[in-house]
Amino acid sequence: MQNENIKVFTSAFEQEVYEGLTAYPKYLSSKYFYDEVGDKLFQDIMAMPEYYLTDCEFNILETHKAEISRLFAQNGNPFSLFELGAGDGKKTKILLQYLVDNNIPFDYRPIDISQNALDQLEVSIKQEIPQVTINTLQGTYFETLRDIGKSNGRRKVILFLGSNMGNLLHPQAVEFLRNMRDAIEEDDLIFMGLDQKKNPQTILDAYNDETGITEAFNKNVLTRINKELGGNFDVDNFLHWEVYDPETGTAKSFLVAKKSQTVHIESLALEVRLKRWETIHTEISQKYDDEVVEWLAQQADLKIVTSFSDDQESYKNYVLKK
Ligand code: AVJ
Repeated sequence: MQNENIKVFTSAFEQEVYEGLTAYPKYLSSKYFYDEVGDKLFQDIMAMPEYYLTDCEFNILETHKAEISRLFAQNGNPFSLFELGAGDGKKTKILLQYLVDNNIPFDYRPIDISQNALDQLEVSIKQEIPQVTINTLQGTYFETLRDIGKSNGRRKVILFLGSNMGNLLHPQAVEFLRNMRDAIEEDDLIFMGLDQKKNPQTILDAYNDETGITEAFNKNVLTRINKELGGNFDVDNFLHWEVYDPETGTAKSFLVAKKSQTVHIESLALEVRLKRWETIHTEISQKYDDEVVEWLAQQADLKIVTSFSDDQESYKNYVLKK
């Protein structure tokens, strides 16, 4: 009967898990890595020596905070500093502190998919930089861009740090940048951190640490399915596998089934069969170069104002506008 195929989902998580695990090849979205456990694992990743991205961006912001703040401040009119995927705000605090110290008027509006991350961020900002006016907003990038677009009045600066856009394939990134463009006015700025193409080994090492933190992070999506959707994945039946294609600049994460197995997911009334060595694709972490960024910007009808980089050009922060 045709009706049997009509599923009613009570959340985007349910729907996307259902779609991803009934597709071939199987996939799950990396946005579901982030709950309380995943947030902590990602903080551990950022602290790993192999995960160079955070240190690079931290150093770029520290080195250029005066010039970056001057760009943000323009003629001194107050602005709203939005941040997509704010996380723990470790890097953003460099800018927040500098703006506060130099009496530049702004308010801070961090956005994240994880309410837990936002709650912790708000507490830590209130402790460390109490002069900052902060208003948090929970949601996905696409959802919250709509709210950014609607909030008018102040000039907008949108931070998008940590190479977070790397989770999007180019067509999605273009769509996303177009939405950003629609959410801003002539005088507004986008400040975006993008990891650059480099020695492939360096990239593989960053996503394949020996201590297994990245593996645990990757597997957290299965743990969340177990906890939130009544699944019975045995995470020990999977191994974490990372590949990097230096031609396209795409790093991809997989969970690979070590043996054939059937997983039951209660709230989806779903039996998932996996063959031995079958894959679940869980994340892409795109690496960029100037040509690709220029192409993306042009596709979205955005202009690159300037960029900041480390000596090795292993990471770059781009300033974009309409
Ligand atoms: C937060 C999406 C930028 O892709 O580098 C870190 C997440 N995944 N290690 C990245 C991640 C595995 C990270 N982003």
